Amino acid sequence: MSSILAVGIATLDIVNTLASYPREDEEVRAQAQSRVRGGNATNTLVILSQLGHHCSWAGVLPREPDSQVVLDDLDRYRVDVTAVQRPVSGKLPTSYISLSADTGSRTIVHYRDLPEYDFDAFDALDLSRYDWLHFEGRNIGELGSMLEKARQAGIPCSLEVEKPREGIENLFDLPDVLLFSRAYVRQKGFQNAGKFLASRNWRQPVFLAWGAAGAWCRIPAGEIMHAPAPEVAVADSLGAGDVFNAGIIDALLRKSSPEESLHHAVRLAAVKCTRAGLVI
Ligand code: FRU
Repeated sequence: MSSILAVGIATLDIVNTLASYPREDEEVRAQAQSRVRGGNATNTLVILSQLGHHCSWAGVLPREPDSQVVLDDLDRYRVDVTAVQRPVSGKLPTSYISLSADTGSRTIVHYRDLPEYDFDAFDALDLSRYDWLHFEGRNIGELGSMLEKARQAGIPCSLEVEKPREGIENLFDLPDVLLFSRAYVRQKGFQNAGKFLASRNWRQPVFLAWGAAGAWCRIPAGEIMHAPAPEVAVADSLGAGDVFNAGIIDALLRKSSPEESLHHAVRLAAVKCTRAGLVI
């Protein structure tokens, strides 16, 4: 069992299950609605906890009623919250999610106006307690200093790059593992995983999840590997990318090769897609 700290967000996800995705300006009735904790970093931790790791979250959680959903869920998965910043004002970031029963796709409208976890809070942590540090690629100004500190402490770390953010490319040499999303790669103008992975001389293993097409990995020697996704009936794809990231971290911590880790993470994400919620 390893000890993992993830820096990133928790959200309130209001998930409407719809028979199929609506057209613009249409009025539809949801089949079901749930209010659950979401957010990439905490989603990844909840999976890592189910895989037997000791997990801690570093993020911002305002003191307001909706935050109880987050606390209850993290408590259920024994995620340590002592590193969390608890401002007295502010609202928990909210995602309004349309889950299509037809395809299992999830469409997310996210709103936040909460300050991000900052370097001063991170700097106060005793990093020697952790075997792995995982960062969401957000709050770029502060993230650089956090990654530098992680490097100095000699603790392996991963960086998730899910969305284009100004300056994020300047941080690519700092983590030991990079975890990209298809959305980022497409927004950067690449239609194909291989072309993106070959576009630079990465100094670390780089992983890229690509939905139903599985995922790719490039190792520093230059080899690019692909793991196809098993064919499954997709019930709920919400958080599948976060599960993939957990699978990579879990496998690398257990000293698996990048290729084994890739296959493990794809399998795990596929299992998640067959189930409602973040259950593996
Ligand atoms: C899924 C997710 C949701 C959250 C949104 C934040 O990956 O973490 O739980 O609402 O993305 O961007």
